[in-house]
Amino acid sequence: MKILLVGSGGREHSLAWKLAQSEKCEKLYCAPGNAGIAGSAQCVPFEAEDTDSLVHFAIEEQIDLVVIGPEAPLVLGLADRLNEAGIKVFGPSAAAARLEGSKGFMKDLCAKYDIPTAAYRRFTNLEEARKFIEKQDAPIVIKTDGLAAGKGVIIAQTKEEAIEVATNMLSGTLFGASGQEIVIEAFLEGEEVSFFALADGKTVLPLTSAQDHKRAYDGDTGPNTGGMGAYSPAHMMNPALEKTINDRIIQPAVNAMAAEGCPFTGVLFAGIMLVEGDPVLIEFNARFGDPECQTMMMRLQSDLLEILLAGAERRLSDLHDSIVWRDETALCVVMAAKGYPEKYIKNSLITIDLPEFDEKTAIFHAGTKRNAQGDLVNSGGRVLGVCALGKSVAQARKNAYETIGKVHWPEGFYRSDIGWRALQAEEEFEKNPPVVNNLSA
Ligand code: AMP
Ligand code: GLY
Repeated sequence: MKILLVGSGGREHSLAWKLAQSEKCEKLYCAPGNAGIAGSAQCVPFEAEDTDSLVHFAIEEQIDLVVIGPEAPLVLGLADRLNEAGIKVFGPSAAAARLEGSKGFMKDLCAKYDIPTAAYRRFTNLEEARKFIEKQDAPIVIKTDGLAAGKGVIIAQTKEEAIEVATNMLSGTLFGASGQEIVIEAFLEGEEVSFFALADGKTVLPLTSAQDHKRAYDGDTGPNTGGMGAYSPAHMMNPALEKTINDRIIQPAVNAMAAEGCPFTGVLFAGIMLVEGDPVLIEFNARFGDPECQTMMMRLQSDLLEILLAGAERRLSDLHDSIVWRDETALCVVMAAKGYPEKYIKNSLITIDLPEFDEKTAIFHAGTKRNAQGDLVNSGGRVLGVCALGKSVAQARKNAYETIGKVHWPEGFYRSDIGWRALQAEEEFEKNPPVVNNLSA
């Protein structure tokens, strides 16, 4: 098969690496890709949002399957255009991608179909928003309706701050058009977990869980980022909780989208808050997470191409119980350019003193390119995802940080505490193993 993968981040590098391992994969293109992806795929110079060029290329090259990585092309309708051209595509239509592209749409759907999520109201008018805020208790969560590169959520600690944020969002000064409609919602307290499932409009195929680290610095401090590290599976996940998430959130959402006339096909990524043990939906994304995907691809033993193709061909029911995951933890530490997520310099030199892939480790590239001399330099804020497998979180983490020690990049930084919550839980488990009542003894 000839495959076209769309995107250029660490998520896409891990997808390219895994797709290229499939026996069915004859030729893999990636648009636009990056310096690491060029090791697994032929990079072609079309931006992910350049719908016309991508559709034209897919037709000309007789592509058998297009896999769309990021949310922006989904919201722009790339999957619709490819479907119209008769090309198979893994990723939802623009109407279905509204689950991620419009927070208001997602919240209304949850309200209509009884999917647990934080109480909310939608606003386009500042006076109405102000009156509503006055009646709330802080903290108050304010979100842009539209996409804002993962940064459109602000948790205001006071009513005054909430009013200021609402003012700046609604006027367009903070996030442009994305913020001219807002959602104000109740603050949820608990531990966050990400859960991923495939859907083909009807059938749901649960995948696995992960936990992201959104803040820039150790101890979950500093500004929000796209994600500074992740591990999979999430430490608090168990089969019963997975079933609850699927029964209360994922399957009802897939049924609801079908009932609304916009069936969801692709990967549904649920951001969940465990509130006193009960899963409450924070957000849906219509794609794999970055860097969660990198950890999932390290754990996936089955053929990714077979799985995505079954999704695109609406026959996920063929795959039930056949996806195999390594019984290990995968952990990913993101190396970012100093200054990220604010200002940072580009074109700083990176030297990697070891093979980028071996049995237990992988270095996935995000914002990298080769300069005129062929040296590896950064071209973005999040630059490398250094991943490792291990029998425990502690082991995976040790392997990942040992690998990081062999990457020389003076202009880069990374968090030194990825997986800290899971590590605490693991240590607690070792100190106080649960008592097993052996009734027959
Ligand atoms: P989102 O872009 O919706 O994932 O939001 C970014 C982050 O904001 C989430 O990962 C949460 O940490 C936080 N967040 C969003 N909504 C809420 C909420 N209602 N209560 C508490 N935290 C939230
Ligand atoms: N790591 C969070 C996201 O991909 O949205």
